[in-house]
Amino acid sequence: MVQLLFEKVRVTTGIPYLDALTQGGFIKGTTNLIIGPAGAGKTICGLHFLLDGAHRNENGLLVAMQEPPWAIRRDASNFSFYDHNFFVEPENVIMLDFTPSGWELWDPDSLTYAEESEMMIEAEGVPYDETSLPTFLHKVFYHISQVVEEKKIERIVIDPLAAFRFYDYGNDFGFLRKLTTGFLSNIAALNVTTLAISELSSSNSQSLFGEEYIADSIFHLDMLSVRGELIRILRISKMRGTNHSTKTLRYQITSDGVTFLEDEDE
Ligand SMILES: Nc1ncnc2c1ncn2[C@@H]1O[C@H](COP(=O)(O)OP(=O)(O)OP(=O)(O)O)[C@@H](O)[C@H]1O
Ligand SMILES: [Mg+2]
Repeated sequence: MVQLLFEKVRVTTGIPYLDALTQGGFIKGTTNLIIGPAGAGKTICGLHFLLDGAHRNENGLLVAMQEPPWAIRRDASNFSFYDHNFFVEPENVIMLDFTPSGWELWDPDSLTYAEESEMMIEAEGVPYDETSLPTFLHKVFYHISQVVEEKKIERIVIDPLAAFRFYDYGNDFGFLRKLTTGFLSNIAALNVTTLAISELSSSNSQSLFGEEYIADSIFHLDMLSVRGELIRILRISKMRGTNHSTKTLRYQITSDGVTFLEDEDE
């Protein structure tokens, strides 16, 4: 009898406590999602993931969609786990600026790159111009694929997917889902491990782009006010192929980044 065995290689999350609760972290080559409200610590989790990779000689790419790279680095520089050396030549962590203030959006040359890209997202009824989401994603993917190849990238953070909302498609959620699925599937095909950040709050059951169904794992971050104190909680609602913790876990953000209260009890 022929037995097919799929070896699951794990990629550390950058937060050892979460690795211990997930059989070692993300499965290599998967697309993972962090969902949480503003200020929950999503970007910090992304940086833990990338800098941990850099320490392991696994190069990382941060695709900045909302907060520009310089601001992300400025805020991160206060954390004990931040190491500026990883961001300078020869970088172990590359940052691509796709924020509205970033030059990539307005550089006419980058449009021709997009047209040459192998990935084509067909968008019926939507004009193919530089202000449309398909064109934007086309360009983003093209640049990602170039950097992944040139720099041998193994870890990607997309911060956040919610930037797709910059483009107005009214109530055409089917179209947005189609684009999001195409975009994330194409990135997954690059054989990298992806952490996509989503700004949906955990209390909102309506997924805007369908990313919860595309993702292989979902980490929900949330913030509660309990007796006048801000409580931060994390739960893992989904992790394909993994026997993961189902507990609601309390975490905090300190000068060491995201840490879990259970860490302190040990
Ligand atoms: N040194 C620190 N000590 C304690 N808390 C900190 C420190 N630095 C940042 N924080 C907390 O981290 C929060 C920012 O985290 P982060 O930027 O990862 O949030 P985010 O979920 O990405 O938010 P957004 O959706 O707005 O981008 C701050 O609002 C603050 O509460
Ligand atoms: Mg952020």
